[in-house]
Amino acid sequence: MIYFDQAASSFPKPPEVADAMVKAVNEVGANPGRGGHQLARQANYIINTAREKIAKWIGCNNPKQIVFFSNATQALNQAIKGLDWKEGDHVLTTSFEHNSVRRPLEFIKRTYDIHISYIDGKASEEMFISEVNNSITDKTKLMVMTHASNITGDILPLRKMINIAKRYGIITLVDASQTAGHLPINMGEQEMDMIVFPGHKGILGPQGTGVLAVRQQIDLVPLHHGGTGGGSELIDQPQQWPDRYESGTLNTPGIAGLSAAISVLEQSEKNNVPRETILTNELLKGLQSINGITCFGPSSSDNRLPIVAFNIKNIPSQEVAMILDSHYNIAVRAGLHCSPLTHETLQTMDQGIIRVSLSRYNTKEEVQSFLQAIEEIVTAYDEF
Ligand SMILES: Cc1ncc(COP(=O)(O)O)c(C=O)c1O
Repeated sequence: MIYFDQAASSFPKPPEVADAMVKAVNEVGANPGRGGHQLARQANYIINTAREKIAKWIGCNNPKQIVFFSNATQALNQAIKGLDWKEGDHVLTTSFEHNSVRRPLEFIKRTYDIHISYIDGKASEEMFISEVNNSITDKTKLMVMTHASNITGDILPLRKMINIAKRYGIITLVDASQTAGHLPINMGEQEMDMIVFPGHKGILGPQGTGVLAVRQQIDLVPLHHGGTGGGSELIDQPQQWPDRYESGTLNTPGIAGLSAAISVLEQSEKNNVPRETILTNELLKGLQSINGITCFGPSSSDNRLPIVAFNIKNIPSQEVAMILDSHYNIAVRAGLHCSPLTHETLQTMDQGIIRVSLSRYNTKEEVQSFLQAIEEIVTAYDEF
């Protein structure tokens, strides 16, 4: 199987990830923060070490403000719904957002009667930034933006957007679901107030892991209430981070795997151009040279993630994906990709889009086999 669906969930993972998870299950097993015995302390050590590692890796000044969730969606829900919303508040966001941002936003819009501006990603960067600027009001409370499109791989002008937000004292939330593991992140230098990312995509960690990191202590209302290990005498959620937001038993094996994945990543980050960037360029050039293919997003691998989105003539994207899977043993994602506004902008609501996404474990040979398969499919449809 050629696995080109890395943007949904990466596969395979570095062997160190499974090793760390197996060790956590077989040798530790206990509940972190729920007891003073040796095994509970070891489980706690795994969690705290992961928090410290992640804080350092993303430039978050306080490891206690690294909060673990089961995925990016839960973390985004906490960051968005947890703010102190008042009727008439305004949110500035983009048309690139995933439903994991858009749906919580639409929920608070209905619940609190707030306003949302979705800045259209079709415009040039200059026009986009100018629209961001023009859409700010004195009620803008939050700017939430994906770091890159999950469909086309376009990287957004984050720095420029955050500069504008900072000028007006607006809270910034970055959805780094697609970029964590691919692009450097430094919350301090990039002045992000909150960032969210899953462990199971570009970081190459396990499913069941997601992180919300908060740089300034923004007082979010917890979405979940329950046992936190400490402060058991209190009737309410404890005030201290991260307990306030981590009710219930944590995913210790998953967090152990995530921690191992970040260690592996830190080693490979020392290399120059990542292999997946080189492969993306080859893939893009190959697709652009085939008649009848429309590629979406930037025309080169500059300013894009290892994601290539395309369609073949007006053939439904799902049909192509099915042929790739059943006939060529190649896994890609097709159809609509949880970001309807992006599809509206690209006018692909009916056809959907074929998305190929790579990781550092994909190879040149796989890219060549893929291009060969696409050429054969195009020829077969031409002859049909
Ligand atoms: C940009 C973006 N945000 C959020 C998510 C949700 O991630 P998770 O499935 O870990 O909740 C995804 C998943 O594809 C995504 O691409």
